Amino acid sequence: MHTREAVLADAQAIYDLIGTYSGDGTLLPRRLPEICENIRDFVVAEKAGQIIGCGALHLYGPHLAEVRSIAVYPHHRGSGAGRQVVDALLREAERHRVSCVCLFTRIPEFFSRLGFSVAPREHLPDKVYKDCCNCPRLQSCDEVPMVRGQAPKFAILPRPFMAAQFPITIRPLEGE
Ligand SMILES: CC(C)(COP(=O)(O)OP(=O)(O)OC[C@H]1O[C@@H](n2cnc3c(N)ncnc32)[C@H](O)[C@@H]1OP(=O)(O)O)[C@@H](O)C(=O)NCCC(=O)NCCS
Repeated sequence: MHTREAVLADAQAIYDLIGTYSGDGTLLPRRLPEICENIRDFVVAEKAGQIIGCGALHLYGPHLAEVRSIAVYPHHRGSGAGRQVVDALLREAERHRVSCVCLFTRIPEFFSRLGFSVAPREHLPDKVYKDCCNCPRLQSCDEVPMVRGQAPKFAILPRPFMAAQFPITIRPLEGE
């Protein structure tokens, strides 16, 4: 088994794999055009020419990236593929010299083994502005925010209208 950067030809296989876990809400659903558009975010784990795992790194800026869509097919779980995918995404974040990698998860134990620790979501306002403000579970979120590195506590995305109902302390960017 090895990991590699995804190419466009992998998009359908990634879509199918994420679909395995999005039906019951374990993973957020991703549409095929969205996966194609963001294919350069993805890493896949491959065994005997078959994609058995995937994950993505969304870049917000040098202050923040987010690990998303981590999945390994049920019959390949427990063989290290999940760890290898996350490690590959962390190397990618390092290559971009990103100072904090975040994620939201219902399995914090898995990610704490990989160096992540729990942080308040208010420390990740870009993530909140991009996703949480549009989420029906904004006020009843059951996912645990985690970070690896220094949580930025500021946003570079514009504050959406919805955020007025979700108080977050935002510090301006240095130099602004
Ligand atoms: C989470 C998931 C990606 C893990 O993949 P995997 O290939 O089985 O994980 P690995 O074999 O690399 O396990 C690495 C370590 O994490 C542990 N681990 C695996 N799944 C775990 C879980 N659900 N909770 C806690 N620890 C877990 C393993 O025991 C192993 O520990 P070790 O280093 O002490 O041996 C996989 O179970 C999955 O696809 N789950 C459904 C989708 C999902 O929940 N994704 C995460 C969304 S945030």
